[in-house]
Amino acid sequence: MSFSERERILARLEALERRAEDGGGADKAAARRAEGRRTARDRLARLLDAGTFVEMDKLVVHQCTNFGMGDKRVPGDGVVTGFGRIDGRVVFVYAQDFTVFGGSLSAAHAHKITKVQDMALKVGAPIIGLNDSGGARIQEGVVSLGGYADIFLRNTLASGVIPQISAILGPCAGGAVYSPGITDFIVMAESGSHMFITGPEVIRAVTSTEVTKEELGGAAMHARRSGVAHFVAPDEDGALDAIRELLSYLPSNNDEDPPFVATQDPLDRADPELDDLVPTESNQPYDIRDAIVRIVDDGRMLEVHEQYAENIVCVLARMAGRPVGIVANQPAVLAGCLDIGASVKAARFVRFCDCFNLPVVTLVDTPGFLPGTDQELGGIIKHGAKLVYAYAEATVPKVTVICRKAYGGAYIVMSSRHMRGDLNLAWPTAEVAVMGPEGAVNIVFRKEIQSAEDPAAAREQAVASYRERFANPYTVAEVGFVDAVIRPRDTRRVITSALAMLSNKRDANPPRKHGNIPL
Ligand code: HXC
Repeated sequence: MSFSERERILARLEALERRAEDGGGADKAAARRAEGRRTARDRLARLLDAGTFVEMDKLVVHQCTNFGMGDKRVPGDGVVTGFGRIDGRVVFVYAQDFTVFGGSLSAAHAHKITKVQDMALKVGAPIIGLNDSGGARIQEGVVSLGGYADIFLRNTLASGVIPQISAILGPCAGGAVYSPGITDFIVMAESGSHMFITGPEVIRAVTSTEVTKEELGGAAMHARRSGVAHFVAPDEDGALDAIRELLSYLPSNNDEDPPFVATQDPLDRADPELDDLVPTESNQPYDIRDAIVRIVDDGRMLEVHEQYAENIVCVLARMAGRPVGIVANQPAVLAGCLDIGASVKAARFVRFCDCFNLPVVTLVDTPGFLPGTDQELGGIIKHGAKLVYAYAEATVPKVTVICRKAYGGAYIVMSSRHMRGDLNLAWPTAEVAVMGPEGAVNIVFRKEIQSAEDPAAAREQAVASYRERFANPYTVAEVGFVDAVIRPRDTRRVITSALAMLSNKRDANPPRKHGNIPL
């Protein structure tokens, strides 16, 4: 082959590649950058370790000829797919390119995504989707709907096998929302990220309601209200950095242990401040996160659903270098009551941890399930049951510390011994009983109080005697429902020892097709 012939062959490839890299054109890319958005390729460069991205299907084009689409073919067809590394570990990625047909999903675009989904599942590596799409490509009609179905199916089959993470970095409308909705985690950026099934215009047409994109599907709404978003970052770069951090706690697949990160933080580090954390007044609030940072390695943690159902806290952290999931009632919000939001949030988190071999550490301080008609009418029975179910089915190591209140159903649910908790501990401030003293005396001693000469004094005395009998950890310690009452300052030492002891734990559930969690 002559030199010029070689050059011609290479030039053809280069031209095609350049055409693919141009996407919807320099003007559209510049307009996006002017809005503070990165292009799909810029995003992947930020997400992945430098120089590790290998692109696949760069030259794929759509096959649609409707509405003049035959003349509009862009190599890559609006999505950049392939694999690369994060912290040296293989991940599969796809990033939608809004400059090409609004990132909309054609059959070819869908096939590119399902190809990386299939490979990720085959090799046992996480998959990360950077979503920025107007939904099903309208010109392709039903074919694009089939493409979504193919993606949803693979999301479902990969669930619990490989971590699946979605970033929402633009509009995410129509069918585009359900793939993220099935994945393990959704990360949004504070501005410019929207997720909705039908946008404001359709809502106006169908229901005559005026609503903004932000109100309907912005990051703040999904982080605080719907709970659809697990993480919110100030901007795109923050969202991509959050994914890297999140992955540092996760194994590549369900057959692996999560990655070990060596720590200089002594495993037996005592923290005397913990002894004073729980207020002596039983109804005084405190922030349970102050306990968590003092217990985990180097005070570092990543909070999931930070702004949603704040009455329960779910964090990823490390203990003795090994990632753990921590679930903790938050006495600073709603006194740490379990309600619908908290139950659903924690149940999903516990199930995620169980899928991916993250031990679950539970810190308990809850007066119980939140009483109220809203809760009952909203189905607290089935939603609370999700949390019972999640803890009961989890076979990963489970270590529980009752810090203060553990009353009623909430005592049972929060990883008690009866839910197959492996090591159940209590601080001396623990109060474990069927219900709180005030409510209990109203029921058990009602007649005595009513007929007493001084009902107020009689009531006070009844509360004191109930408190003396039950508002401590010793009654449950006597029956072996907690294995040890420990000094708060020793919590880190005892938990790290327990997790080391449990590192070879083997436990299983009965064989079955799948359970029927109350949805
Ligand atoms: C084809 C699309 C498209 C789509 C956008 N574009 N969405 N092309 N199919 N679904 C194109 C536009 O024609 C335009 O092309 C370019 O992308 C940019 O779109 P704009 O509207 O100019 O951008 P913007 O003003 O930023 O608005 C973005 C948007 C809006 C909010 C996403 O485009 C929009 O509302 N799109 C439709 C969203 C939607 O309803 N999707 C549902 C589809 S049905 P040019 O050539 O002008 O640059 C669906 C059902 C699946 O998804 C159900 C499965 C369960």
